[in-house]
Amino acid sequence: MLEVQGLTLQITVDGEPVRAVSNLSLNIQPGRVLALVGESGCGKSLTAQALLRLGEFQGVKKTSGKILLEGIDLDAMDRESLRKVRGGKISMIFQEPMTALNPVFSVGSQIVEVIRLHLDMNKQQALARAKQLLHDVGLQQVEQLLKQYPDSLSGGMRQRILIAMAMAGDPDYIIADEPTTALDVSVQKRMIHLLRNLQRKRNLGMLLVTHDFGLVAEMADDVAVMYAGEVIEYGAVADIFEAPSHPYTQALMQCRPEANREKHATLKVISGQVPAPGRWPSGCRFAPRCTKKIASCTQNDIALNCWQSPSGDSSISPSPHMARCLRVAELQ
Ligand SMILES: Nc1ncnc2c1ncn2[C@@H]1O[C@H](COP(=O)(O)OP(=O)(O)OP(=O)(O)O)[C@@H](O)[C@H]1O
Ligand SMILES: [Mg+2]
Repeated sequence: MLEVQGLTLQITVDGEPVRAVSNLSLNIQPGRVLALVGESGCGKSLTAQALLRLGEFQGVKKTSGKILLEGIDLDAMDRESLRKVRGGKISMIFQEPMTALNPVFSVGSQIVEVIRLHLDMNKQQALARAKQLLHDVGLQQVEQLLKQYPDSLSGGMRQRILIAMAMAGDPDYIIADEPTTALDVSVQKRMIHLLRNLQRKRNLGMLLVTHDFGLVAEMADDVAVMYAGEVIEYGAVADIFEAPSHPYTQALMQCRPEANREKHATLKVISGQVPAPGRWPSGCRFAPRCTKKIASCTQNDIALNCWQSPSGDSSISPSPHMARCLRVAELQ
């Protein structure tokens, strides 16, 4: 299991340190897909990057919490162990394929490099594996493809190559940060099926970062809803789709295109914006935008109304700050 326990991340805004993720806990289990959803700017990518300690390169500091890979703390790993984990145990699929592929190396040399970094294979064996991986992600004429450079390929092909590269080191976990948003709609669907099939076939644990509830319904087993740096609801997809508890989750669900299918319906939106890190209001962070708030929701010292996962799945350990909604019981 890949576990996030009480993660708090700090960034720098105008020279000042501010919290961007607070006390966040998640479990990514083998063979299951956990979706991390929420509006833009709520800290999804920061959280995803923290799972591989990638934020450190961009000035993001972990001030508390733990990332445990099968019980081993990532902080306790030396550089060599961490290098093996990145791509070998946990792989990442980024949103923008062009930034993740190196334009000056051929597709073949990039995949072979990842394979040889993580698996004990000679060049010939690695090349054979690279061809197989390209087949597995639905690409054809792979001999030719291996010699090509990323900029001569379509967006869909590049994303398939990135997925093949993510599988190259035979990882146990995949972190996919908005893996389809840069692609056009027809390609998106095929890519989702490809990812889902690979995840099932290889029994991978996956963290899928998205703001697309359609994608959550299609791919995920569990979902964590994030708002302004914290998880406010967490549980099995079926339960949360059927009965979202927190008013933020309810509002997000009402904004789905599928929920606005009646004739002449105007697409609902949540008014206002996610507050930026450093500007989180006191009390419930969603309260200023919440149509169901009561006076006490905005008080600094609100009693936290801890709420367990609706699935009753004891393997999901909710953060103590989850669902800081004073009205959860009343609204259900
Ligand atoms: N390296 C960084 N340094 C300073 N601020 C950052 C850094 N990375 C992210 N932020 C800020 O932290 C907040 C959360 O960013 P993050 O990228 O995690 O959002 P997100 O939920 O992934 O949004 P989106 O859906 O738009 O990708 C944003 O306000 C962002 O501007
Ligand atoms: Mg993001």
